Amino acid sequence: MNVPSAAPELFTWEFATDPYPAYAWLRQHSPVHWTKLPSGVEAWLVTRYSDAREALADSRLSKNPEHHAEDAGGKSKTGIPGERSANLMTHLLNIDPPDHTRLRRLVSKAFTPRRIAEFAPRVQQLTDDLIDGFASRGEADLIHDFAFPLPIYAICDLLGVPREDQDDLRDWAGMMIRHGGGQRGGVARSVKRIRAYLAELIHRKRDGLGEDLISGLIRASDHGEHLTENEAAAMCFVLLFAGFETTINLIGNGVHTLIRHPQERARLQESIQRGERALLDSGVEELLRYDGPVELATWRFATEPLVIGQQRIAPGDPVLVVLAAANRDPARFAGPDTVDLNRRDNQHLGYGHGIHYCLGAPLARLEGRMALETLLRRLPDLQLAVDPDDLRWRGGLIMRGLRDLPVRFSAV
Ligand code: HEM
Repeated sequence: MNVPSAAPELFTWEFATDPYPAYAWLRQHSPVHWTKLPSGVEAWLVTRYSDAREALADSRLSKNPEHHAEDAGGKSKTGIPGERSANLMTHLLNIDPPDHTRLRRLVSKAFTPRRIAEFAPRVQQLTDDLIDGFASRGEADLIHDFAFPLPIYAICDLLGVPREDQDDLRDWAGMMIRHGGGQRGGVARSVKRIRAYLAELIHRKRDGLGEDLISGLIRASDHGEHLTENEAAAMCFVLLFAGFETTINLIGNGVHTLIRHPQERARLQESIQRGERALLDSGVEELLRYDGPVELATWRFATEPLVIGQQRIAPGDPVLVVLAAANRDPARFAGPDTVDLNRRDNQHLGYGHGIHYCLGAPLARLEGRMALETLLRRLPDLQLAVDPDDLRWRGGLIMRGLRDLPVRFSAV
């Protein structure tokens, strides 16, 4: 990889296509870097692994946007979905202890590893149904036809959203991410619709609790405390939006990386044919490290003066931890720009670290594994249908993913 010789320009089209050379420069020359984001907000970018890991677990960095120095009058420009909608403020990614501790404990009682394990056959069926939808065509856009619908149907099923409503949620969630790059009005409208729908659904479920996750959330109690209806709606909302674009990108970026690294892909395909699991498991982790869905962890704000690396951070300053840069830090990973699906000692930060560590990681791993395994098994000669340079990456701040992924394969 060619590391630029001078300070690179960030957030350009070239940067969105391949941010890694710029991150290598930042890690070397300005590891905690003050920059102006495309929205006009200024923030610190933290790019070294050791600083990133520390910052993610630092309780002096708050998740509450009210700590943003520029937040005067409640007009934050951070673009956190739902942040200014009072009803959705109480979600996990926007709050600190003790509220965070209480809510996370409650949701963990419903969102259990057992529930996810029992959900595996449904994810397999969804995966197969979606592939059935395009397998005979010999070509597809893997984002539109596969990676986009899979996680939204999966989380809807898990939550207990009736099948007849799932396409509405898919469309609203789609609008939320398509409008991500600056059109706040579109995002706000979609957030409002989703919020109203979830509130109504939760209300309805109270009259007849079932086995689904929403019923589990309503039932969950901690020392006699339950989630309020607002908290339950905010929780469902965060499960929907935190697990949606991330999983799309896990599949999209993952397939892209595999296609671009044919030797590693062949190795994985052979191991899948032999019915083995180990390389698939370590491989999904390596794909998350190498080109993961979450480029920057969500916003944090200093509540008091602190030092990251050797940089002084003032109270009220926003801090963005660049997971994608930390995960390629040569001080932590041997050969960080190489894909090694069998990599050992792979404590990447793709799911974050500390108290906000991804709640949905078991579900994401399940979906990622099944999606990649099934695609490679059923469409073994899957190839890009366009020149790699013509692929378009989304330009959003937090997430890293492709807009589309045109592929071709032998029709089956
Ligand atoms: C938090 C990554 C899938 C739900 C996070 C964080 C990261 C992350 C980096 C921490 C953000 C921060 O500290 O600022 C990912 C990746 C995924 C994925 C890479 C897919 C490959 C999911 C899924 C769900 C989910 C499928 C749920 C259905 C959550 C929730 C949080 C979270 C609720 C907030 C946890 C808290 O604040 O306590 N995720 N995520 N994620 N994720 Fe995921």
